[in-house]
Amino acid sequence: MKAILGKIPVKLGIMAAMLAAAAVAAAVAAGIMLRRDSGANVGQNLKIGVFMYRGDDTFISNLMNSLRDIVSAYEREQGANLYLSIQDAQGSQATQNTQIERSLSLGYNILCVNVVDRTSVAYVIDKAMEADVPLIFFNREPVQADLRKWDKLYYVGTDASMNGRLEGQIIVDAYRENPERLDLNNDGILQYIMIEGEFRHQDAILRTESSIQAIVDAGIMVEKLDGGTANWERSQAAALAKDYFTKYGSQIEVILCNNDDMALGVIDYVSDNQLDFTNIVGVDGTPQGLQAVYDGKMEGTVVIDYEAQAKLIFEIVLAHIKDGNARDVIGMTEERYVRAPMYVVRREGQK
Ligand code: GAL
Repeated sequence: MKAILGKIPVKLGIMAAMLAAAAVAAAVAAGIMLRRDSGANVGQNLKIGVFMYRGDDTFISNLMNSLRDIVSAYEREQGANLYLSIQDAQGSQATQNTQIERSLSLGYNILCVNVVDRTSVAYVIDKAMEADVPLIFFNREPVQADLRKWDKLYYVGTDASMNGRLEGQIIVDAYRENPERLDLNNDGILQYIMIEGEFRHQDAILRTESSIQAIVDAGIMVEKLDGGTANWERSQAAALAKDYFTKYGSQIEVILCNNDDMALGVIDYVSDNQLDFTNIVGVDGTPQGLQAVYDGKMEGTVVIDYEAQAKLIFEIVLAHIKDGNARDVIGMTEERYVRAPMYVVRREGQK
């Protein structure tokens, strides 16, 4: 929490709350210390390839900046010399396949893959297996059957179902504090809009389902007015917000977004049109998302600790290079999945 909030001009009026998924999260956080005892120069001359699905994605670029910082710090502390190459597929799986093949032919030691199409990883896995180069998938979760194909495949991500539950819980808490602030027409039902990240993306599917489930489980009735996909993008979400506000106007009581950038797109439309509407929630806890919560423009967000994700990726890289596997990285499951911690940030003072 400190790390991310530390980048924001801190103001009071925010409730930075709830360390969620507590046990696992704490264990993971504790386990991501870089190994100083692993012998100097572990990974000396190591070539690490990183492949982003899209470099203009806010969350991914934050994650990449953290990874660069962590690798530089390691080099400084250990006197090691690593080579980190980060490549952008710009949304094309074909481009990413070519980038990966090229890196394999150039003798990279380990590849970290933010796969464009989570259902098309078989090709990349086959190539990596042929070259005996481990793959760490991150953020975009391949299907489990693919991950089972080889014991040098890993996944680092978030618990998307828990992200969604916490997002729903923000609405539940606000409703319990003051139902009238959400149930604007006082009919005992929350009329909502759902803005989804991306068709077939694991995080989008699970956040969509579990956020609403959390509200329903709390005994609050809901009615979906409408919903759409904005590909995680601010401008696409602003365009959807325009359609929805034009169509439903003041019937809209809550807008749930699968990430902060899309929540910010809704806020853009709301601000441009001077609407009085802040019942908006997101996920990610990007600096811009957190700022919108601080400014009272949205109800809250679920912070996914991208620094922790970057540390986990690098921890797996080092463990693999040292031991030939990363089974002992704290939080790693038998199936070689590891999930980074998360927590909720809500504005306060709205009762
Ligand atoms: C999600 C994240 C989104 C976007 C997406 C890309 O986990 O919340 O903002 O970055 O991953 O795969």
